[in-house]
Amino acid sequence: MYARIAGVGSFLPGQPVSNEDLVRRGVDTNDDWIITRTGIRARHLADEGCTSSYLGYEAAKRALDSADVEAADLDLIIVATSTPDFIFPSTACLIQEKLGNRGAMAFDIQAVCSGFVYALGVADKFIRSGSHRKALVIGAEVFSRILDWEDRATCVLFGDGAGAVVLEASERPGILATAAHADGSYNRILSVPGSVCGGKVIGDPFLRMDGQAVFKFAVKVLSEVATECCAIAEIASSKIDWLIPHQANIRIIESTAKKLGLVMDKVVVTVEKHGNTSAASIPLALDAAIQDGRLQRGQKIMLEGVGGGFTWGAVLAEY
Ligand code: ACO
Repeated sequence: MYARIAGVGSFLPGQPVSNEDLVRRGVDTNDDWIITRTGIRARHLADEGCTSSYLGYEAAKRALDSADVEAADLDLIIVATSTPDFIFPSTACLIQEKLGNRGAMAFDIQAVCSGFVYALGVADKFIRSGSHRKALVIGAEVFSRILDWEDRATCVLFGDGAGAVVLEASERPGILATAAHADGSYNRILSVPGSVCGGKVIGDPFLRMDGQAVFKFAVKVLSEVATECCAIAEIASSKIDWLIPHQANIRIIESTAKKLGLVMDKVVVTVEKHGNTSAASIPLALDAAIQDGRLQRGQKIMLEGVGGGFTWGAVLAEY
């Protein structure tokens, strides 16, 4: 029994905000610096009041439509997010209500930018065990809420959005291998080191990052974990039709592809359109490759992510 990708959907809020728009809004930066260092040309920023559950719901509806699955028939809903609507209940439960599903197991996963591949891996285990048959896996983020707009080294990198996948139990191949890891000793190189206590923010509620340390770590583990997945599935990395990596930075993506011996023609890149949307970026890129006709049924895809924690993981699947 496999967990097969039955449908995919994604959603970006509002209009794209270009690098020049950020300059006009008062960020001390320029288009050339951002494009050269990151490949990002635009991001989408959710209006006040637009939440991860709203973005996730919009992506989920599109994924359910493309899978031709009714929300009522889902028995598992997992949401990967680091920007939940509330401390609790989970964003998964809020999306469940919006979708009109009752009774499915619903919970959030917190693994920052690796959240989507962590969540897919967990859903795959549930489906392969036979306990669940139809899972909705969502990555949804409003990272703009945790950005310090005075910190130009971070605020230009991120955006808001959501993507979703419906997985169904199937005898036809779907997910072939998953791998996920973490090393908490790297927690300080990327974090939002704040919390709420007694009605007050304790610590720092904004994203802080050591960009160069993150860069080195990301390239190392992304190539390692993709290689690990290929070994589990016993296929050569050259057999991957599409590498669909976390969309953080074009230079991280290019370095990873090079280490895996993949030409950039086999890599799905959408970072220029929406920046780093954390847990949403992989399903956003997956959906883009389906929508533009590049990704065809039967092709092999490697999804992989790395993020705060530090966490990293990959999913090798036949689409
Ligand atoms: N616009 C203009 N200048 C800037 C900006 C900006 N937005 N941000 C920083 N600078 C300046 C700095 O002030 C510095 O100026 P100085 O030399 O006069 O002091 C100069 O640019 C270089 O700064 P660095 O921080 O050394 O820049 P670096 O070359 O390391 O690039 C970057 C920074 C793009 C963040 C890089 O480290 C990187 O890509 N890291 C990966 C981080 C990443 O992608 N994180 C995403 C989250 S993690 C994840 O999703 C996996």
